[in-house]
Parts: sequence; C-alpha cells; structure tokens
Amino acid sequence: MILCWPQKIQSKIHDHADAHCIMKSLSGSLYEVRFRWPEGEADDSLNQTADCRQMEKISETRLDAENSVAYINDSIGLHRVENRDEVNYAVTLHLYCPPFSQCTTFDESTGQKKVASMTFDNAPQNPTYTVRKISSATIAGEASKEMLVFEQSVK
Ligand code: NI
Repeated sequence: MILCWPQKIQSKIHDHADAHCIMKSLSGSLYEVRFRWPEGEADDSLNQTADCRQMEKISETRLDAENSVAYINDSIGLHRVENRDEVNYAVTLHLYCPPFSQCTTFDESTGQKKVASMTFDNAPQNPTYTVRKISSATIAGEASKEMLVFEQSVK
C-alpha cells in the first residue's frame, strides 16, 4: 500500500492486528511516535478499563531520509505517524504480513479503543496509483481511502 501524507496530517494511534508492519519512506519527512499499550489492554478485548489515562510515549523517530525503513509489531507497541511539515507532502510504502482487515485505534488522552476497518478492503480490485510531480515532492496522485481517513483526524 502506498500512502500520501499531506502537510500537517497524522494517523491515529493504532495497533497492527498481530501482523508485521514495514514502512519505507519514499519522499518527504515523517515522524513515528511510539506508545505503550494502555494498562491492562494488551489483549484483544474491547472492554474499557475504568481508569482512563494518558498513553505513555516510548519513542519518537524522524524518518527523514528517503528509503529509511521502520518496523513495528504489536509486541513492540503502538504508533502514530505524522507529517509535521507545513510545505511538503510525504509518501510511504507499507507492507503488512499477514494482511489484516481491522486494526484498533487508541485515544491518546484516555487509551480508549476503537475498531477501525482497513479501507483497502473497499479499494478497487486493481488499484492504480498515478504519480505526479508537485513542486519539489513526488506524491501519489490518488490518495488511498485510508489516507482520507487520516485526513479526518486533522485538527
Ligand atoms: Ni502503523
């Protein structure tokens, strides 16, 4: 899956449904912010615990070089990906093994969970991505549906 990240956009904090996730930077600069699983919530249950509390940050890494690669799985933690740049788009290539149809998103201030459907389920059978040049950044011309979900999380 190729994702295009417009300026000042971020994903929700999410898990990876027991899959391996490899994210390679193709263009632009992104931050990967990692979080610990909320206390008592490291299983698949969606029961909310009584004590809602701020999620704990583990690390923050800037993926600024083209071709830099990040790897995460659920035993490492959760993460959020951010394009903090006000000018440039970023483009990433994501590989998930095995593929998954749902993941879980988390509210940073409470640790509260929500199930999120991976929208490539609804993507065309043979999606095509048009790559075009915009100023100095090469971006995917057709943002995936998942990117539209990300756009909704912009404040
Ligand atoms: Ni991820």
